Amino acid sequence: MLMERFDRASDHATSVTLSALSLQRQGPDHAGAVPSSDAMNRSSSTKRLEVTLVALRRASKRTMVLRLRFADGEVFKYRPGQFIGLVAPDGRQRFFSIANADPVHNELELHVNRSPGGAFTGMLFDKAQISDRFWMEGPFGDFTIPPEASSRTILVAGGTGFAPIRACLEQMAANRLTGMQTSRTIHLYWGARSREDLYDVASLKALSERLPGLRFIPVLDQGDSDCSVRAGFVHRAIIEDFDDLSEYDIYACGAPAMIEALSRDCAAERGFDPSRLIADIFTAGPDRENPPPPASSAPVALLLDQASAMEGVQGEALLFALKRAGIALPAVCGGKGACGTCRIHVAPQWRSRLAEPAKQEARLLKFTGAGEGDRLSCQILLTADLSGLELQACTENEGDKQ
Ligand SMILES: Cc1cc2nc3c(=O)[nH]c(=O)nc-3n(C[C@H](O)[C@H](O)[C@H](O)COP(=O)(O)OP(=O)(O)OC[C@H]3O[C@@H](n4cnc5c(N)ncnc54)[C@H](O)[C@@H]3O)c2cc1C
Ligand code: FES
Repeated sequence: MLMERFDRASDHATSVTLSALSLQRQGPDHAGAVPSSDAMNRSSSTKRLEVTLVALRRASKRTMVLRLRFADGEVFKYRPGQFIGLVAPDGRQRFFSIANADPVHNELELHVNRSPGGAFTGMLFDKAQISDRFWMEGPFGDFTIPPEASSRTILVAGGTGFAPIRACLEQMAANRLTGMQTSRTIHLYWGARSREDLYDVASLKALSERLPGLRFIPVLDQGDSDCSVRAGFVHRAIIEDFDDLSEYDIYACGAPAMIEALSRDCAAERGFDPSRLIADIFTAGPDRENPPPPASSAPVALLLDQASAMEGVQGEALLFALKRAGIALPAVCGGKGACGTCRIHVAPQWRSRLAEPAKQEARLLKFTGAGEGDRLSCQILLTADLSGLELQACTENEGDKQ
């Protein structure tokens, strides 16, 4: 798969491990807290920086383009396609993908879609002003479009899912200057509700001048009065345009429902192989709220570092059992399998009892430099079979100790 070929030796890779955060017990109720700057800064490549809102453009009724500046002298390295956690003064945090390939004058661009009734985006749309201060944490995530992507590549953006794709395209265009072959065909489908929600066509036009193979297909939910733009769901347009998707890689960013429908319908109707879908899923909702354990479930004993005995319950993710026991895991995406920061190390004798990592977990593990036996605790569901599960703090990028 294409992702496998990506060179993950990049020092941009997100890599926060338990050992980097030196496993600490904390008060049992850590829900909703922002990871301390101390903890975040101890990781090798994620940072927590204060940022100032320096530009705010209402691109459409539902979309806002922000620019955030970090202080002179600070360095913030990331790979196009990654996202940050933006922390408001009240401590609330949400994730936003970075829309530019590199910081320009220490500025990152974010594209924010207003969620109906959404707490964070409502605050940004109604109250945020130039010069407001926020914190940002990151970078996180492993979404990227490799520079060597083949001409059987389809990019799909849903609304502000355009942001990480734009960052990747910017990088491809920059690579062209360094002699990389970038004239191959790349199909970009951008789905939005209305024409105004295709809020950044100007930058796309500029990019297509530098990427001659880029083929842009806008798709509007309800079409357009002059009928010049495709109507309907974005994934249906792809199904209309391609008879056979079995040899294609699809890179998609946007809402969970769009990505699910894309994978399901393209597989069912056009032979698409879902393992060739690389997705950045914009899950919504409050983060880091530890769900209560499933009621009346049987306990599952856990042993950490051969010393600390603790208990989870059947049916819950290991991450939440560890958090309830007061273990300080950053878990910045709140257990959504998107950030890779909840890594733990499973003792060798227990590994065969765990289900194999799913594709997304395997990708994140690889991307974050995980070693043999490392797993994402949010992706391990506790079952009776796992009672006695032995875990260790993993040493960064090490896996099993030699
Ligand atoms: C990896 C990643 C990258 C992302 N990148 C972007 C990006 O680039 N741009 C972008 O716009 N978004 C992005 N998101 C989504 C973003 O992080 C937020 O989740 C989103 O903006 C909503 O935040 P909010 O606080 O406004 O809404 P929330 O308050 O979290 O609410 C989200 C939705 O749930 C509903 N809701 C909230 N509480 C309840 C309740 N109690 N009962 C029922 N419904 C409820 C709200 O009405 C709303 O529609 C990304 C998410 C992830 C995981
Ligand atoms: S908490 Fe983000 S991947 Fe597990």
